Amino acid sequence: MPHPTIDQREAWQALAAHAREMRSTHLSELFAGALHRHAAFTRQAAGLTLDLSKQRWRDETLERLLDLAREAEVPEAIRGLLAGERVNRSEDRPALHTALRLPPEASLVVEGEDLVPSVHKTLERMATMVERFHAGQWRGATGRAIRDVVNLGVGGSDLGPLMVTHALADYRPQGVHTIEVHFASTMDGSQLADYLARLNPETTLFVLSSKSFTTIDTLSNARTAQDWLMGRLMGDNREEGVDAELVMRQHFIGVSASPEKMNEWGIAEDHQLAFWEWVGGRYSLWGAIGLPIALMVGMPHFRELLAGAHAMDRHFSEAPLVDNLPVLLALAGIWNVNFLDIRAHSILPYDGRLEFFAAYLEQLEMESNGKSVTHDGRGVGYSTCPVLWGQLGPNAQHAFYQLLHQGTQAVECDFIAPLLRYDEVEDSATRAHLKSQHRLALANCFAQSRVLMLGDEAIEDDGPRPAHKRYRGNQPSSTLLLDRLTPATLGSLIALYEHKVFVQARIWDINPFDQWGVELGKKIAGETQRILEHQADIADMDDSTRGLIEAVWAAERN
Ligand code: F6P
Repeated sequence: MPHPTIDQREAWQALAAHAREMRSTHLSELFAGALHRHAAFTRQAAGLTLDLSKQRWRDETLERLLDLAREAEVPEAIRGLLAGERVNRSEDRPALHTALRLPPEASLVVEGEDLVPSVHKTLERMATMVERFHAGQWRGATGRAIRDVVNLGVGGSDLGPLMVTHALADYRPQGVHTIEVHFASTMDGSQLADYLARLNPETTLFVLSSKSFTTIDTLSNARTAQDWLMGRLMGDNREEGVDAELVMRQHFIGVSASPEKMNEWGIAEDHQLAFWEWVGGRYSLWGAIGLPIALMVGMPHFRELLAGAHAMDRHFSEAPLVDNLPVLLALAGIWNVNFLDIRAHSILPYDGRLEFFAAYLEQLEMESNGKSVTHDGRGVGYSTCPVLWGQLGPNAQHAFYQLLHQGTQAVECDFIAPLLRYDEVEDSATRAHLKSQHRLALANCFAQSRVLMLGDEAIEDDGPRPAHKRYRGNQPSSTLLLDRLTPATLGSLIALYEHKVFVQARIWDINPFDQWGVELGKKIAGETQRILEHQADIADMDDSTRGLIEAVWAAERN
């Protein structure tokens, strides 16, 4: 007899019965009946405050959800994850991104090997590289100091570093040779083409970031960049001894879990940063894949980012379930998705520095938990990851908030903002203006979650209004406040979501660490490309795809 699936267990059934009562309860009623709801549903850890009082739940709901977490053996799963058990079962390996942020004095022995020394050896190698750049000593083939670094990567080899460098741009170190960091990910070459048109090849270096070093998006950008460098540098400077080997050596760094493939590509061995198969791509910004972050903010700030994530790891491992931020955030999501049928989730930061946070979470959450098969290969009989998307909150107010307020979809929202900002601005008049703008953003953040919660009841002089001016409210949200946006609090914020994803996966009994769903698309794209390039026969194609390909051929002929 196969063991019962999670939705057949007692805790799930009890929640389903409880949800039948709760579905008809409006959030405004939950607030009307409880004076201290904010305090009752707010928790703090690692520089973050999480207010879950605007979720459509009450004490009993949370107690039942905690029963579900215990029934799914979440505490045991957390211990297994952090200890390096092979939690990525389809690929038979651990998922040890948490090891990347252990302090040097820690020890984590996994299958007979202490991982901490090799993690810190890589960090030391990164530090040496970063120092060379910041001292103006990393020189291109013609002897000029590198000033532009372009990261070529996609997915986890792009989104995390892109999001963090943008978020921490205020933390650039002073008094060092400035390095501008850029990102090109798209296979169509449009981002890269823009850089190639305006950067100087003599002072530009490319970081090839790819865990597998087989991703066509990244490798095609890399080939274009290589040809650009070779053509521009060797053409003009061959007589000065600039040859292909020198260009390769001085203008490329490789970051990958495959040193062999970096060798084949021609990356100089001492300019390779290797990491481990046990680091998932979308969980990899904490080590060598974070090189662009370290280049931008310096190694001390990069280490603060790691320390912040480690603080969240410790909280995740030590705090009781009822006070555990990742567990609670996960349970709120489970309640919405599986019991209130709310299957859309919007991420809404009220701080422009978090512009790429939603894009980063889209991969983290949907590539991790967009699954429908349990660990033992059965189809799930319940929903898993919701559709998750987002945008800077202030801009989204003028874009899709209309749907949140008056559309037909129920949507869970995460509002994210720092409590304090702009203390470092030197000019006092500008500082006062900017601080006031920050308060304006906070006022909007709090107002939006309030209106989404209360609907019409948020309006004090509530006279009769036509239907098109009415707000139904009852949209649940979480509000996450960072003390300030620093490397440390950003680290703990990201780790919070990583662990939230893990807890949900545990309850849904799915593997958050593989991504087999993207493989078929890659294979079929390869076959389609061969046809487009006239290297294979179109006859077996479906009618629509054949029509589209023929349109391209026709356009090219004309
Ligand atoms: O296609 C999905 C994916 O495999 C992601 O999981 C990964 O982050 C991305 O591609 C890039 O992979 P790589 O770092 O191996 O180039």
